[in-house]
Amino acid sequence: MKTTTILTGLKPSGDLHIGNYFGSIKPFLDLYNEQKDSANFFLMVADYHALTTVRDGSILRRNIYNIVRDYLATGVDPNTVTLFRQSDNSDHLELGWILDCMVSVPFLMLAHSYKDKIAKGLDANAGLFTYPMLMAADILLYNTDLVPVGEDQRQHLEYAREAVTKFNNAYGQILKEPKEVILKNVGVIPGLDGQKMSKSYGNTIPLFGTREEIQKAVMSIVTDSTGERPENVYAIHSLFRSKGQLESLYSEHVGQYKYLKEALIEDIDSLVAPMREKRNDINDGDIRKILVEGVEKAKIQSTDTLRKVRDAIGINI
Ligand code: ADP
Ligand code: TRP
Repeated sequence: MKTTTILTGLKPSGDLHIGNYFGSIKPFLDLYNEQKDSANFFLMVADYHALTTVRDGSILRRNIYNIVRDYLATGVDPNTVTLFRQSDNSDHLELGWILDCMVSVPFLMLAHSYKDKIAKGLDANAGLFTYPMLMAADILLYNTDLVPVGEDQRQHLEYAREAVTKFNNAYGQILKEPKEVILKNVGVIPGLDGQKMSKSYGNTIPLFGTREEIQKAVMSIVTDSTGERPENVYAIHSLFRSKGQLESLYSEHVGQYKYLKEALIEDIDSLVAPMREKRNDINDGDIRKILVEGVEKAKIQSTDTLRKVRDAIGINI
């Protein structure tokens, strides 16, 4: 009997890179492999959250398919993980609205997701403002115990707990308090220019790039000729080999940047090639089928929670 529920959500906002893989996907898969016998896993594509920023229907549609394809290719098994799309289950919107009514405007104004945008002088839409309560609904509908996320999402979990407190104080013990599991990622993985690898900086090594694309990216990693070794190359390489292996490789080939980069290309390609092959075998029809089956499973739990919530607030007449 599985006693724990673990859920996380992913915004379909662009192509994955090596930083996403080592910083977020791999830690999630490690947790899944450790606990799959004792926990129920839910993996949700947060497409309504992506709508707070994406303004192109064809791009959002493509990103949704791609993120599901990427996760399947990296090893998520839809038979043991409930993989579904947020917008396929309107329970999220309903509970999101109910939770909006539990918290105050000044409280939501303190959320980083909103505050940072305002601080940059950007326009924030109302969806971005209520973002934390939709995320709370995503989590609370499934009686979730643990939510594996990156450090940047810690505050959203605090908001989800506050929503539980406000709701349960008013209506009794109905919603369950979730806890974050902050993924201990490998630190910040540098991009081609040495800054944090990020799709917004255009300095990434694509996770599912062709060998040629990986080659092109690695060859353009900025190397500093003043040091003993090319630090940016070394930092990325350390994701693939042990410290001991790297030390001997780099000390045997001091100054041979091209050689070291070629070794890195080899290492990236041997990780990516089997996943790339698997990814190519997954077609849109497979994805639609997985999402349809996933949301059916998800709804069994969410409908039950929402029924209790509706009863409690007095709208089930
Ligand atoms: P991007 O910065 O490319 O927009 P996201 O913000 O969509 O990436 O990242 C999704 C997750 O991937 C983050 O929560 C984080 O855990 C991980 N991640 C992204 N970039 C890196 C990086 N350079 N190093 C480590 N982890 C990263
Ligand atoms: N806000 C999360 C992010 O930007 C995505 C997300 C939406 C999420 N709903 C969730 C994460 C529920 C965990 C649980 O990365």
